[in-house]
Amino acid sequence: MYEEKLIIPRPTIVDRQFTKPLLCGPGPCDIWPSVAEALSKPVLSPLCDELFDVMDDIRAGLQYVFQTKSKLVLAISGSGHSGMETVISNIVGPNETILICCRGIWDDRALEMSKRYGIKTKVHRILFNNTFSLTLIEGILKILRPKALFITHGDSSTGSVQKLEGLGKLCHKYGALLLVDTVVSLASEPFFMDEWGVDGVYSSTQKGLSGPAGISPIAFSERAQEVIKKRNFKPPFYFDIELLAAQWNCFGNTRQYHHTLSPPLLWALRSCLKEVINETLPKVWARHAETTAHFHKRIEQLSLELLIPKPEDRLVTVTTVVLPKGYDYMEFVKYMRNKHNILIFPGLGPTVGKALRIGIMGVNSTIQVADAIADAMADTLIALKKSSL
Ligand SMILES: Cc1ncc(COP(=O)(O)O)c(C=O)c1O
Repeated sequence: MYEEKLIIPRPTIVDRQFTKPLLCGPGPCDIWPSVAEALSKPVLSPLCDELFDVMDDIRAGLQYVFQTKSKLVLAISGSGHSGMETVISNIVGPNETILICCRGIWDDRALEMSKRYGIKTKVHRILFNNTFSLTLIEGILKILRPKALFITHGDSSTGSVQKLEGLGKLCHKYGALLLVDTVVSLASEPFFMDEWGVDGVYSSTQKGLSGPAGISPIAFSERAQEVIKKRNFKPPFYFDIELLAAQWNCFGNTRQYHHTLSPPLLWALRSCLKEVINETLPKVWARHAETTAHFHKRIEQLSLELLIPKPEDRLVTVTTVVLPKGYDYMEFVKYMRNKHNILIFPGLGPTVGKALRIGIMGVNSTIQVADAIADAMADTLIALKKSSL
């Protein structure tokens, strides 16, 4: 009866067919078969006991992958950026100071977010293909005395990994909390939240955990919890960790409704964590290290250069590869997709026009996948040589 009132006619939505590519960009990567199955489990209300059990399993699994005894561990509804918003906005308030260690695009995102919260920002910037020296950071902490220091563990825009051992101790010596992005390093690179003195950390599901994007693991240390209790500002409602902790029952017997959680994503994250728990963290880390070492060898055999000069700075999940003069990065990426149905990415932020970004992580971290990418790259180098050189 309302047909004549509709100002927009029905659109045509056609069936779309495609062959799924092998996902070898810096994320998302392919998902575990068990995770695909978990995504189709029945939808329940976030107030059902069955889902409370799933949330408890997730918190236990996250304590394991972050290696923390802290109780303030849960998952934010949103992609990695939502973790970044939560960690920053719950710890540093308007007119307080954050020191951001910038080497890639994610640190610049943290900078932009902090500015929007009215936080005073200080930046310690280094060249994109480098990592930070703890001695230099100490000098800056001594002078600035910020409330928190933000740093990215694995940087998917540059392909580098930052050493974190000792950094928590340094931050605490100068009264700062340590906030860390582990979006592309968790469950791939070794990470020890409590031992390394990390106070706020977030990650994602679509990288090393091999799940779908949209739900982000997060944890705060006991030191951070004290700071949160005493803060005199309010973070955004959706990201308020005190309200979220009450929904996730972090401290016992609270199942307070905050927002409608996504049951399929909760089931999926639980399955990602089960995969890691079954394999064990040391074996997951070893598998990533071995696969990527093999891939780097294959890259060197192709006479290609790795963008990150120091081997110890190279991230295990994302490899940045420099193409010889004359090749076009976009053309290379397109050929890999069209001819081999392998998805890799060109540079991002500081690496635009400087490197390819190739991700081998989670379920894809196998010698077989590493070889498939290297073989396709060898073919692409030959195919594009005629047109480019
Ligand atoms: C290191 C790092 N931090 C943050 C993000 C942002 O995560 P998302 O795209 O899931 O919001 C990414 C995404 O690639 C990332 O690699």
